[in-house]
Amino acid sequence: MRRSLVVGNWKMNGTRASTELLAKGIIAGLGSDIGDCAVCVPYVFLAEIGEIIKNSPLALGAQNVADKASGAYTGEVSASMLNEFGCRYALVGHSERRTYYGDTNLSVAERFCQAQTQNIIPILCIGETLDQREQEQTFSVVEEQLDAVIELAGINAFNAAVIAYEPVWAIGTGKTASDEQAQEVHQHIRAYIAGKDQTIADKIQILYGGSAKPDNAKGLFAMPDIDGGLIGGASLDADSFLKIYQSIKQ
Ligand code: PGA
Repeated sequence: MRRSLVVGNWKMNGTRASTELLAKGIIAGLGSDIGDCAVCVPYVFLAEIGEIIKNSPLALGAQNVADKASGAYTGEVSASMLNEFGCRYALVGHSERRTYYGDTNLSVAERFCQAQTQNIIPILCIGETLDQREQEQTFSVVEEQLDAVIELAGINAFNAAVIAYEPVWAIGTGKTASDEQAQEVHQHIRAYIAGKDQTIADKIQILYGGSAKPDNAKGLFAMPDIDGGLIGGASLDADSFLKIYQSIKQ
């Protein structure tokens, strides 16, 4: 049985004061150990939030990581820097990075590899746009996004990685994929990985992301191939985030 994982993605939100309160609120309500839980915070808050959640079950994550190890790359943050601040996870390939900042399948694969050089678990975000879904390209798009990483990192690298399926049309739009729509793609992703390595497919956590909320999380998480969620908007409120966390399979 795979352990569930719920990850908050705070994106570019919050102040030092508000994120401190948020982290404390989440820790206070985590309760019993029903699954894994993490928050991906803006880089500048890593140190403070890292201090607050130290010795708690809440894990720390970053929202991206550089595609290079070090050097003259102004504005980038390396995996070794994230490691120094205690990051367990780093998102790679979030659709907002792909759309607004030019992250490509190849640079996402490089980021994935960089994270792993520092024992940081990459959370590889994949998913189709509305246009691609309407043209029935969903499966081929996610396969292509996976292939870029498999080609560079090798399938064994997925022993220490998480996949987040996030249909782009569902992110921040209030339009969630139905339980069945999400399950269909999750199942496809798992089967695709199984075609390369059955053991990895059985064990890898595949999260759903895209307008997941307290009132739809339970249905989504009940699906056999959905192992938790990557939560944006609803992770900015400790109560909603905790309700979503409490909706995971136990
Ligand atoms: P959302 O974002 O929950 O606000 O739709 C999810 C994400 O982008 O990870």
